[in-house]
Amino acid sequence: MKRRTLFILSLVHLTLMLSVQKKTTRVKSADAIDLKVKTLLAKMTLDEKIGQLNQYTSDRLATGPLTPNSSKFNEIKTGRVGAMLNVKGAKETRMVQELAMRSRLKIPLLFGLDVIHGYRVTFPVPLAEAASWDLDLIEKSARIAGKEAAAAGVHWTFAPMVDIARDPRWGRVMEGAGEDPYLGSLIAGARVRGFQGKGLGNLDAIMACVKHFAAYGAAIGGRDYNTTDMSDRTLWEVYLPPFKAALDAGAATFMNGFNDLNGVPATGNSYLQRDILKGKWAFNGFVVSDWGSIGEMVNHGFATDNKQAGMLAINAGNDMDMESHSYNANLAQLVKEKKVSVATIDEAVKRVLRKKFEMGLFDAPYRFSNEEREKNTLNSPENRAAARDIAKHSIVLLKNDNQLLPLSKTLKTIAVIGPLAKSNIDMMGFWSVKWENDHLISLYEGIENKVGKTTKLLYAQGCDVTDTSKVNFSEAIATAMQADVVVVAVGEHFDMTGEAKSKANIHLPGVQEDLIRAIKATGKPVVVLTMSGRPLIFNWTADHADAILQTWWLGSEAGNAMADVLFGDYNPSGKLPISFPRSEGQIPVYYNYKNTGRPSANDYGTGYKSGYTDLQNSPRYAFGYGLSYSEFELSGLTLDKTSIKPNETIKITCTLKNTGKYAGEETVQLYLRDETGSVTRPVKELKGFKKVYLKSGETKMVNFVINKEMLSFYDQKMNWTTEPGTFDIMIGNSSDHIVLNSKFELLQ
Ligand code: NOJ
Repeated sequence: MKRRTLFILSLVHLTLMLSVQKKTTRVKSADAIDLKVKTLLAKMTLDEKIGQLNQYTSDRLATGPLTPNSSKFNEIKTGRVGAMLNVKGAKETRMVQELAMRSRLKIPLLFGLDVIHGYRVTFPVPLAEAASWDLDLIEKSARIAGKEAAAAGVHWTFAPMVDIARDPRWGRVMEGAGEDPYLGSLIAGARVRGFQGKGLGNLDAIMACVKHFAAYGAAIGGRDYNTTDMSDRTLWEVYLPPFKAALDAGAATFMNGFNDLNGVPATGNSYLQRDILKGKWAFNGFVVSDWGSIGEMVNHGFATDNKQAGMLAINAGNDMDMESHSYNANLAQLVKEKKVSVATIDEAVKRVLRKKFEMGLFDAPYRFSNEEREKNTLNSPENRAAARDIAKHSIVLLKNDNQLLPLSKTLKTIAVIGPLAKSNIDMMGFWSVKWENDHLISLYEGIENKVGKTTKLLYAQGCDVTDTSKVNFSEAIATAMQADVVVVAVGEHFDMTGEAKSKANIHLPGVQEDLIRAIKATGKPVVVLTMSGRPLIFNWTADHADAILQTWWLGSEAGNAMADVLFGDYNPSGKLPISFPRSEGQIPVYYNYKNTGRPSANDYGTGYKSGYTDLQNSPRYAFGYGLSYSEFELSGLTLDKTSIKPNETIKITCTLKNTGKYAGEETVQLYLRDETGSVTRPVKELKGFKKVYLKSGETKMVNFVINKEMLSFYDQKMNWTTEPGTFDIMIGNSSDHIVLNSKFELLQ
């Protein structure tokens, strides 16, 4: 045997040995934690156990309706609190942890916070980040948020929200990854990995909390907190996959939801929490309720009082009570009455304690509360640079007539108009952690930073976001008249889309579209920037503006990122993660619908076809849609086989060419359709995508591998299976722009 071969063999041997060793160490440490948990549990009184299942908010920062309770701090000292939320900062968390260290067993508290799109540095809202279709960047954004939060004493974020949302009237659409279970699952995994870094126990890792389990995103009519009602098929096919993906990525905790699902509130739903999550999926972390959601089961008409609600919740697998004040008040009595067993409580407590051990809090309860580290970690130039990078990747170019964009940096005069042109605060988005002195870069400032001294910038507000008056239009028109190009910033204030911000009318608010109309009438080229947390409706603008950029709410570096795109320092590459409707009347509108028995050929419901007689079925902008300053050509689709058995794979290849004059990225999207099944299948489902960077004139091969998992679905008995038959392959750069088509047979 040659020396080189010998060397490689021994390396392989060493790696194998190390991985076996690593595995045994992991198992050992899991055992060790088990033992520690059991030992501690044996020392605990029933009251102390119940205390571990209780989470209170700090009164200083409330993210829900407050229940006055001045004795919180005393309760911590007596071991009656297991976790706090909305306590943040190294100093404050240390101060509160000190109280827990005065309790008999010195069990450390967990500090949870909604770190949804950044901690100190604000990142784009999650829906915006999803538009980047860039999993590495999304993971990086969560990583930075996690590092910053961990350096500020926070152990636990209530994120990611992985609820699929097909209804933009629902305010929380901004907090998720949009409408698609496949994209949503990949993003869910990326976010969990980002928050948890190299794993719990590391000083820069915080626990993720996947929410809201489950189906909260399907609130009827898009009304927040509303009932959800769906078939098991839709639940498993559409709503559950991102949760499973988050779990597979190692998510430490789950949060249930405010909604009732098929008649049973998620918080008291044992099918969801016991059968699926802790049973079938073998989740070993803990489940926290949503804020007050145990108590709200009384309003649902599912429990007669807070006590019965507590019983139903814990028996259904809800481990921790966030702000219902139900467990602390009632569990001991419920045990006495034999309505809740000590074993049930023990099981929940073990889950909570396990996470505290994994976080290293028993060894060092203040390990996250280090002011020096906090100072050095927060708001660093690198973190801001990352926020700018992901912000520009999140922008979606919706329209660019006559290649108006990118703008030249040496234009003589640019008019920046609109209610959001100079807004800093709205760039923050709904769920950012608020900082008194933080500066978020407005569009105007971003443009100012970008253009040279020879470019004159003019400004007029025109109207405010919700104004109904047009009195200031004349000033805006006069300003526009003096410019070579007009940039108009419209949309929503930061608090118009988010929790409890559902809307029945999602048109561009107020008279903003009239403002665009008035500016357009000047004959000047008009670029519109739409800033929002949800898809808005702006049909006139879509038809008449020269260029449109959907810029969402982009966070700390918003203005700089928008200027990067406006002036071509970054070629936009975002793709919509959710359909933009033409009218509220067609909601829910989503790309992976079923064909029906009467599919519409002309997009209308005329001639006894499925649709509306007065509106197209298609959305204004489809899922997966987004332009670039360049053009890309897809060609040469080849398959290495045209028929496969279920355990075989097909390799697909196609060619992508940048035929435009700018370097840039294109996202090649692979959709499949199972033509016939024992249950009806969607007209297309995203099954893969590749984001490819190409210089002008460059060509690259793009490959996909089709495997069994991608062809499987739930049959009539809800078995995950494949069925023989024909599958359509569709490849394009948007769900409504398929360029390459082919077919293959799945054999028995
Ligand atoms: C209620 C929200 O539904 C949930 O997502 C959030 O984490 C909690 N409030 C805590 O703020």
